[in-house]
Amino acid sequence: ALITTKEMFKKAYEGGYAIGAFNISDLEQLQGVLRGAKAKNSYVMIQASMSAIKYAGPDTLVAMVKTASDEIGVDVALHLDHGPDMEAVKTCIDAGFSSVMIDGSHYDFEENVRVTKEVVDYAHARGVVVEAELGVLAGIEDEVSSDKHIYTQPDEAVEFVERTGVDSLAIAIGTAHGAFKFKGEAKLRFDILEEIQNRLPGFPIVLHGASAVDQNTIAICNEFGGDIAGAKGIPVEMLRKASSMAVCKINMDTDLRLAMTAAIRKYLAENPKQFDPRKYIGAGRDAIQAVVENKIEEVLGSTNSI
Ligand code: G3H
Ligand code: 13P
Ligand code: NA
Ligand code: ZN
Repeated sequence: ALITTKEMFKKAYEGGYAIGAFNISDLEQLQGVLRGAKAKNSYVMIQASMSAIKYAGPDTLVAMVKTASDEIGVDVALHLDHGPDMEAVKTCIDAGFSSVMIDGSHYDFEENVRVTKEVVDYAHARGVVVEAELGVLAGIEDEVSSDKHIYTQPDEAVEFVERTGVDSLAIAIGTAHGAFKFKGEAKLRFDILEEIQNRLPGFPIVLHGASAVDQNTIAICNEFGGDIAGAKGIPVEMLRKASSMAVCKINMDTDLRLAMTAAIRKYLAENPKQFDPRKYIGAGRDAIQAVVENKIEEVLGSTNSI
């Protein structure tokens, strides 16, 4: 069944772990994530971006996630990732999503408060939880300069949460979206996370752009016809440390994409006579399950959270 994040975040906060929020846009990615969650007896969130929703169709997505959740036997939250506006939020809530993000991080503070508050009022009236964002991650969110983070200011985070009534908040402490996060070394501002945690006790914090970008997976992609150079992610130890703190949700998309692509490339290269899509997409599905199980153990610490 579809559930909200209220209970899972509360338990995660108290237990010093985090819930994995995995992006999907098709059946096999969904099954890979849910099978991984089931195998580890762990809560997870399934999330869909606007482009994923456009790809799959909002009603198809909701029906698929609900049914797969019941069939595999693991309750799950279905979340809109980076909702741009009220219209997108309404589409998803009306379709049956149990959680939405309104990403007003590119607006100024007052406008971000205003749009977020509007979404919170609409969502809460319908039993849906809301994530918002404050601060700017380097990468695709930052249209000005792709190397510059605008870290979340703790003062603003406190005021933002009080004024909007939002259920969780994504903050910028040095993570970035995609497979090419840094030129140099990763550096996360744990001092900022700690101050926000101290000033908003019990309040769930979210980390976006948290893929680790496994170099072995990149090597497999490249060995079997890929051409991916210079990819770099967040070190696993940093993510595990964040999970042990106020961070209750960690977003990962890139690591699933890379694992699925590596597995499919390898399968097709090693089985040139095979043309049954279930075989190679199935290999991708198994790879996603393995990544999710590994994240639950090594990054999130959410094993046996159900
Ligand atoms: O934060 C962005 C997610 O990785 C989704 O990306 O718009 O290509 O689905 P997408
Ligand atoms: P990655 O690109 O690091 O997987 O981050 C995904 C994300 O934050 C989705 O909202
Ligand atoms: Na945590
Ligand atoms: Zn994101």
